[in-house]
Amino acid sequence: MLLNPSANRVYRQATAALAAAELTVTAPFASEIAAGRIGAADALSFRADDIDELVLAAQSAHLVTFRQEGDLLRPVDVPDISVLDDDLLTIPKYQGKTNEGFTRLLLHLTLSQIDRPGPLEVLDPLAGRGTTLLAAWQAGHHGFGVEADEKAFEALASYLKTYLRTKRIRHTAQITPVRREGRTLGRRLDAEVRLSEATHDQPARPGMPTLRMSVFTGDTRDSAALYGRKKFDAIVTDAPYGVVHGAEQRDVNAGGASASARGRAGGSGRGGSQRNRSAQTLLTEAIPVWRGQLKAGGALGISWNTHTLSRGRLLEIISQAGLQAHDEGPWRQFAHRVDASINRDLLVAITP
Ligand SMILES: C[S@@+](CC[C@H](N)C(=O)[O-])C[C@H]1O[C@@H](n2cnc3c(N)ncnc32)[C@H](O)[C@@H]1O
Repeated sequence: MLLNPSANRVYRQATAALAAAELTVTAPFASEIAAGRIGAADALSFRADDIDELVLAAQSAHLVTFRQEGDLLRPVDVPDISVLDDDLLTIPKYQGKTNEGFTRLLLHLTLSQIDRPGPLEVLDPLAGRGTTLLAAWQAGHHGFGVEADEKAFEALASYLKTYLRTKRIRHTAQITPVRREGRTLGRRLDAEVRLSEATHDQPARPGMPTLRMSVFTGDTRDSAALYGRKKFDAIVTDAPYGVVHGAEQRDVNAGGASASARGRAGGSGRGGSQRNRSAQTLLTEAIPVWRGQLKAGGALGISWNTHTLSRGRLLEIISQAGLQAHDEGPWRQFAHRVDASINRDLLVAITP
């Protein structure tokens, strides 16, 4: 299996090991999985009597798979299961963007734990400019988000509108104020793409889904209040990478956790002194809220910086919230270096 090369050099170095662990977790038919190269391309080799082409198609870094016949390699007919073009995720470039290859990996691992047909409802309660939500759309699922940073929210909304208009995809997208008891709490983006309908340069695609996206501005700890009774099949999120420098928190990956106080909804009385809270405090408070937003049979996938929070501590937080995290074998092989201050790991947990 040839692997999609990441534009990001550091992530490219980690890709083969991550893809091997992903295949181990999600493709029970594959054995003897090994990372290697074909020419200059990263590749995985594996042994399989029977392959499931759809499972291969869902691998986040899958490019093309060949079957070995003697000395020759014959391409396997793996379908393209994306419902929107790759550039939906690759066009946005901004500091703090979660690598789209990694986002696809976390999304795939999380959704692989859900035994239910799509389109699924995926919540990213720390949505940033929406890489997870766009990846969910591309894979044919609905995307929902909460984001404290108003600028990130606006950037996602304006990118989405421009993209859908330029590609002439039938859609609606609007921002409206969120009011409760006469007070404005924040804003929400609601968008919908009708993928089955013809566009001027593409024929109708019957059977393609209509996908929804909603994003609220506000604090993730108010996510359940913002979404009311709505529950989600999956929660997939890349937590702030905040690195503590003395008493100051810096969010090296994004607009910053420090933006959270500005955009928070609800006016729930948490003050500015709370801005510099650590990833640990944020996740300790947020994960129980998110857990209440998961449907039975749902799954949580989270990535974070192990320099700010140990895997053991996050496992405790997840288990105290009543979720069961996978922590065996290949599930322990996803940690990788992002830069000098970020070592990223991921955990996927299911509702018991
Ligand atoms: C690592 S970034 C996610 C980036 C996103 N995946 C992307 O590619 O755009 C974490 C996000 O969490 C947001 N955030 C931090 N604390 C928050 C809070 N308490 N409530 C809501 N959002 C918060 C930050 O503003 C940031 O956008």
